[in-house]
Amino acid sequence: MLSYRHAFHAGNHADVLKHIALSAMLEHLRKKDKPLLMVDTHAGGGLYRLDSEPAQKLAEFQDGIGRIWQTEVRTDSLPRAVEAYLTAVQALNPAGKLRQYPGSPWFFRRALRASDTARFFELHPNEYKLLKANLSANKDGKLIVARDDGLNALKSLLPPPSRRALVLIDPSYEVRAEYGAVENALREAVKRFATGVYAVWYPEIDLLEAREFLPRLKKLAGNASPREIPWLAATLKVRSAGQGGFSGMRGSGLFVLNPPWPLMEALQEALPWLAARLGQDEGADSSLTSG
Ligand SMILES: C[S@@+](CC[C@H](N)C(=O)[O-])C[C@H]1O[C@@H](n2cnc3c(N)ncnc32)[C@H](O)[C@@H]1O
Repeated sequence: MLSYRHAFHAGNHADVLKHIALSAMLEHLRKKDKPLLMVDTHAGGGLYRLDSEPAQKLAEFQDGIGRIWQTEVRTDSLPRAVEAYLTAVQALNPAGKLRQYPGSPWFFRRALRASDTARFFELHPNEYKLLKANLSANKDGKLIVARDDGLNALKSLLPPPSRRALVLIDPSYEVRAEYGAVENALREAVKRFATGVYAVWYPEIDLLEAREFLPRLKKLAGNASPREIPWLAATLKVRSAGQGGFSGMRGSGLFVLNPPWPLMEALQEALPWLAARLGQDEGADSSLTSG
């Protein structure tokens, strides 16, 4: 188990979708003075060298961030959420060559204010070491990295004293059971804290559990007690269905409970722009629904 290393995939189309949405949500949530709890249940290494052997092996970043990173950011036609995201990636690569790509903890840390708290979980020993090293500036104890099971730990953090939280759940889905585990952890989390913002990433692959996942998450939102929870679902597909398994990942989706209100508009603009640039064949497409 735990053979997945995000370094092989960093900066691919799935990261682009996830990190654009994450930075848009963070930008909005940090506008309000009240402290925010930031939780990354599956943090990864935090920062990736794109000239490293793992990143070069599949070079997935070339068909993700590689296609868009040099876009001129100060133009009227660029979707606002893409601009904010690209500005962050460009700042990491000031010499004009794409050498590094930020992971989700890096976006969280960038947004962290003195009153906020960040809790990052990573189980893989090497990724955990990397994460510690990459985010070593600990921001006065406001940022805690743990080598722990993020899905299991989540409930112990909820509800946060400030009643404000953004939780990213981004597993590798190495095993089929992870779909159910995410669903259960999310159900448990909303029982304790129904008004938190929860973002769940999932792959678009040809697997029963993956196909059934979104309907199950929507059902979870609809059946929440005492009242249903608003949700948003975004997908970005870059190609037609291919071979099975992860090598056949044609796109991915993000399901968000209690989406901050500007996220819908941000993604409405960003998704068609992304599908046009990251699309690899006529199967490229995007969707955005809410309930
Ligand atoms: C898809 S990667 C995370 C990428 C990261 N969120 C980002 O956007 O940059 C998933 C990570 O979760 C780790 N992992 C797997 N199961 C875990 C668990 N139960 N708790 C915490 N980390 C886990 C894996 O080792 C892997 O590094």
